[in-house]
Amino acid sequence: MLYLIFLVIFANLHHALSARLQFPGDAGARIQLPKRSSLTTEDGTFDHVKAVKHTIKIVNKYRHNLLNFQQNFGFPPGFVSLPPLVVLPGEQLEKRQKESLTDEEDDVEWAGNIKIGTPPKTFLIDFDTGSADLWIPSSACSQCASSKGKYDASASSTGAKKNESFEIRYADGSNATGPVYTDTVTVGGVKATGQYFGAVTSESSNFAQDPIDGVLGLAFPSISRLRQSPFFVTASAQRSVKDDVFAFKLASNGSELYLGGTDTSLYEGAIEYHNVSSTVGYWIIGGASAEVDGKSAVSGFQTIIDSGTSIMYGPPAAVQAFYKAIPNSKLFDKANGFYTFPCRTPPQVAFNWGGKSWAINEANFNFGETEKGSGECVGTLAGQDLGLGNNTWLLGDSFMKNVYSVFSFSKNAVGFATLK
Ligand SMILES: *[C@@H]1O[C@H](CO)[C@@H](O)[C@H](O)[C@H]1NC(C)=O
Ligand SMILES: *[C@@H]1O[C@H](CO)[C@@H](O)[C@H](O)[C@H]1NC(C)=O
Ligand SMILES: *[C@@H]1O[C@H](CO)[C@@H](O)[C@H](O)[C@H]1NC(C)=O
Ligand SMILES: *[C@@H]1O[C@H](CO)[C@@H](O)[C@H](O)[C@H]1NC(C)=O
Ligand SMILES: *[C@@H]1O[C@H](CO)[C@@H](O)[C@H](O)[C@H]1NC(C)=O
Repeated sequence: MLYLIFLVIFANLHHALSARLQFPGDAGARIQLPKRSSLTTEDGTFDHVKAVKHTIKIVNKYRHNLLNFQQNFGFPPGFVSLPPLVVLPGEQLEKRQKESLTDEEDDVEWAGNIKIGTPPKTFLIDFDTGSADLWIPSSACSQCASSKGKYDASASSTGAKKNESFEIRYADGSNATGPVYTDTVTVGGVKATGQYFGAVTSESSNFAQDPIDGVLGLAFPSISRLRQSPFFVTASAQRSVKDDVFAFKLASNGSELYLGGTDTSLYEGAIEYHNVSSTVGYWIIGGASAEVDGKSAVSGFQTIIDSGTSIMYGPPAAVQAFYKAIPNSKLFDKANGFYTFPCRTPPQVAFNWGGKSWAINEANFNFGETEKGSGECVGTLAGQDLGLGNNTWLLGDSFMKNVYSVFSFSKNAVGFATLK
């Protein structure tokens, strides 16, 4: 019965989105996204501890996404098995962290501000194309970091508590629950009224160090834990945007999320679109090949384009085949799938979906030296089983920083264009 209700909700949403939107406004909304830190230390070496933590976060995130899809529809066709939950090995990692980390910041997100409620309260949010829910801390969270924005429904004239609870899984494997609310959410002037979100009432100590308050998911409703339309889908259905398209420029300077179209001042040439290849809830496109020095190294795979992932991951066997194409590359960390290449001869890496080859610049493929003076640099593509099967890769910021990326609901496609 519930299953049917979700199907009806999603079908209606899909219908609303498919209809040509008549929007009187002209421009979309620009949201600036300052980059906060990276997985390379200040002296230019590979921050191994941070990279492992990030991998754990991504494994758990995709595990949670699969559970959300299963909650809504059952496991997707071709589903093999749920990867085990990875719990951050606290003590051991903590010890190593103290040795190698000079800064405490663990954030690798592209964060920007959103406003919730009436009067509006500001939250610093990670915009994530690889998940589909909005969550922030609740004012009832006593041990949430004091620096964090907290939501208090009683202080908002448009807020309403729902008779539901919500669960999130933090990067370190711990989970948190909290009540579900609806309220007005505004992102760069684009407004969604009655938007569902979760307000967590506890926070893992690991997340407490992260300056972001929460996450705004930009993927499809089918992986929504809340079983509700994500912010941008709500805003589109309410015609708050001219076009049901959003786009990212991710760079060390001038990063921007554009809602309601594309920002033509940031790219040149045509946008090369590729149809979304599956209904599993991701921005996923197929027919990909990975190139090394102008030659295809691995081909015929699916790729999820995820702004909430810092680096790139592929199935372990495929990534091994990829590094085989790079002379003198070596496996560096078997457990986490990291490889090195000689720093003096960096490979030219590109991805291709049957159109242009979209090159990754050297800096974006390089995590830094394994240690100062080693001459061995760690690549930003790692082999990892994310429970996505042996033919799906995850391309995060290391890829996205090289292109203008466009996410279109009406075309049901992801597009790339050349950054200006
Ligand atoms: C809230 O939900 C629970 C279980 O889903 C139900 O038993 C209860 O009656 C609901 N309360 C209200 C006020 O709707
Ligand atoms: C959440 O964490 C608690 C404590 O670790 C655990 O008992 C519970 O099963 C977890 N919930 C889910 C849904 O995994
Ligand atoms: C960022 O870009 C702006 C405009 O292009 C420029 O004025 C500024 O100096 C840049 N900042 C850095 C840190 O590169
Ligand atoms: C992409 O999808 C559109 C409409 O859904 C279809 O007309 C078009 O042929 C598809 N393109 C490819 C290359 O499959
Ligand atoms: C991928 O998995 C399928 C089905 O599980 C299997 O038939 C195939 O050989 C695997 N391919 C590789 C490259 O491991």
